[in-house]
Amino acid sequence: MNKFKVLVTSKHPGNAARSLAERFEVDLNSDNAVLGPGELAARLRGCDAVLTLLEDRMTAGLMASLPHLKVVANCAVGYDNVDVQAATRLGILVTNTPGVLDETTADLAFALLLACARRVVEADRFVREGRWRSFTPDLLLGVDVHGKTLGIVGMGRIGKAMARRAHGFGMSILYTRRSAAPADGAPPGARAVSLEKLLAVSDFVSVHCPLDSQTRHLIGRRGFSIIKEGSILVNTARGAVVDQAALIEALDRGRLRGAGLDVFEAEPAVPPQLIASGRVVLTPHIGSASIETRSAMAQLAADSILSALSGRMPANAVNPEVWETMAARLRSGAAQA
Ligand code: GLV
Repeated sequence: MNKFKVLVTSKHPGNAARSLAERFEVDLNSDNAVLGPGELAARLRGCDAVLTLLEDRMTAGLMASLPHLKVVANCAVGYDNVDVQAATRLGILVTNTPGVLDETTADLAFALLLACARRVVEADRFVREGRWRSFTPDLLLGVDVHGKTLGIVGMGRIGKAMARRAHGFGMSILYTRRSAAPADGAPPGARAVSLEKLLAVSDFVSVHCPLDSQTRHLIGRRGFSIIKEGSILVNTARGAVVDQAALIEALDRGRLRGAGLDVFEAEPAVPPQLIASGRVVLTPHIGSASIETRSAMAQLAADSILSALSGRMPANAVNPEVWETMAARLRSGAAQA
C-alpha cells in the first residue's frame, strides 16, 4: 500500500517529525524559514496531511487545490490561520494543540506583567549602559503588583492559569468570558464583569481570548478611551484582538503606563512606534516557547495526524463534525491505493 504523505512545515523540538516518519513519507522543512505561499502550495501537492505553524496560511483556495489533503494539524492552540469553514466543506479535519501550553503561556504573560510594572527591561538597559552611579530613592520607580486588580479578557484555560498566578500574588481578579457559565477552576473571589467594567477598573489587563470575527479589535479606540488611567496591558493571545494603532495612541497619550506584548497585528512586523517606546516590553511570540511545551505541542500535532490517518478521531479536532466525511475519504483513498 502507498504510504501517506505528510508535510511538516517547520523544525520542532522533540521527536514529532521522527514519529511521523516511522509511519509515513515525511517532507520536513528543516530550514528555520517559514515557507512562502508558493513553496507551501508546491510542497503540499499530493500530501494527505500537514503539520502547520501559525504562520502557514491555510486558505480556502489553497486547500481546494489539494485533493489529497485530509488533515491539517496546527501546532498552536489558536487556529485563525486556517479557514476552518472551508476545511469542513472540503472534508478536511483540523486539529489544534489545547491543554499543553496553558501554564507556559501564563508564565510569559505574568513575566510581561511584572517586567512592565517593575521596569525590568529598562533597568537592565540602564545597568548595561553604565548609567548606574549610586543608590537613589526615586530611581526607576515602578508600580506594585500585589494588592492590585487584574482584568483577564478571556477566562479559558490560559486565562485561568494566569488567574492562579495573580491569586498567588494577592491580586483581585476580574474577567470576561464568552460563555455565560461561571468559569470553573477560577480562583476564589474572581468575578465575571462586562468588558467595559473590566477596562475601567483593572490596574492590569491581560488578553487571553482566541482571535475570530467577534474578537478582532475587541479592545480598540473606545476601549482605550475608558481603560483605567495608568494601567498596563499584556497581550500573549493574538495581536489583532487589540487595535494596534489605538494602542499606540493610548501609549503616546500616557493613558497606559505600559504594555507587555508578545503578539502583533502583522507579525513579524512590529510598528516603529512600539520599537521606540520605552513604555513597552516586546517579545517575539514566544508565549509557549519552553523546550518541554514546544516539544509537547509538536508531539500532540503529530499524534493527531497519526490517529486521524489510522481512522481514529483525535480528541483535539476543531471541526469534529467533518469526521465521517474525512474517514470516508480516507477509506476510498486506501481502496484506490
Ligand atoms: C500560539 O500562539 C498558539 O496559539 O499556540
